Amino acid sequence: MIERIVGTAPQADDVVEQELEVKLRPHDFANYIGQDRLKKNLQLAIQAAQKRGEALDHVLLYGPPGLGKTTMASVIANEMSAQIRITSGPAIERAGDLASLLTNLQDGDILFIDEIHRLHRTVEEVLYSAMEDYKLDIMLGKGPSARSLRLDLPQFTLIGATTRTGALAAPLRDRFGHVHRLEFYTPEQIAQIITRAAGILNVTIDAKAAAKLAERSRLTPRIANRLLKRVRDYADVHSDGIIDTAISIKALELLEVDELGLDPADRMLLTAIIDSYNGGPVGVETLAALTAEERSTIEDFIEPYLMQVGLLERTPRGRKVTHKAYRHLGKQPTLDSSQSSLL
Ligand code: ADE
Repeated sequence: MIERIVGTAPQADDVVEQELEVKLRPHDFANYIGQDRLKKNLQLAIQAAQKRGEALDHVLLYGPPGLGKTTMASVIANEMSAQIRITSGPAIERAGDLASLLTNLQDGDILFIDEIHRLHRTVEEVLYSAMEDYKLDIMLGKGPSARSLRLDLPQFTLIGATTRTGALAAPLRDRFGHVHRLEFYTPEQIAQIITRAAGILNVTIDAKAAAKLAERSRLTPRIANRLLKRVRDYADVHSDGIIDTAISIKALELLEVDELGLDPADRMLLTAIIDSYNGGPVGVETLAALTAEERSTIEDFIEPYLMQVGLLERTPRGRKVTHKAYRHLGKQPTLDSSQSSLL
């Protein structure tokens, strides 16, 4: 996959950039902007667990990438005064890897597994009794002499993150006491996040410029922070480092990010549906072929935002662009009976 300025996947930035990213993350609920309902629910659950002196029940966070699932897991750990171990589904290759992670935890610790839908089945099965009874079942030996051993585990909290709950096996999903979806942020919340990040980075940005950047950040903090850093580069080179609206617009034009936060790849996707398929419906596999992207990239990274802002619709017969998409791309819809609903 090509790295896109508005891509929602974490990017292979250099170390300095990654350190900056960590610096920009809020550490507690008070500094975490947005996701108000989720925060309220979690605050209550944390208070209750603390009052009872128990570990927090397991938490599953799902939703489009870049909305702060990892950040929220760190905030929960901080609010619980707990240690957090961060790993991901694909990184845990064998049941033994998970056993070693689990046995090294202490009471109250948090284990965060990103992309939990990508856990191997054999690893996932070890999680069941670990989550339910804080027990680890391990097999010793093979064949007729094999014995199973049950080890006690500390009272830990698993926080799982996934872009899709549908991809999670029901027995795993059912073992989470809290299941929450992270929502896209409002443009106002994104502007607040940009202003906060600018403060941490020691950059001066006026309110109008923050709003302009927010408009083009796909309602996603990870993208907002990335755009802020690129606009800061532009302001440092082309003016006195202060970010105003004019500088923001020029920098975003250079990055080819338009008023709705679309980059050339998004515009190509929408244009392909319009030009080659008369606006759709078209199957996701065809879109994958048209754009040379993986189906999962389209489903997890590209489509959620296009649907959120009403440019694309998912129908039982495939994906369809909306009238708003035609207007955004300066194209005229050709009327046929199947599309009259778009007008
Ligand atoms: N940086 C990234 N996400 C954030 C959030 N939700 N609140 C504050 N700062 C952030």
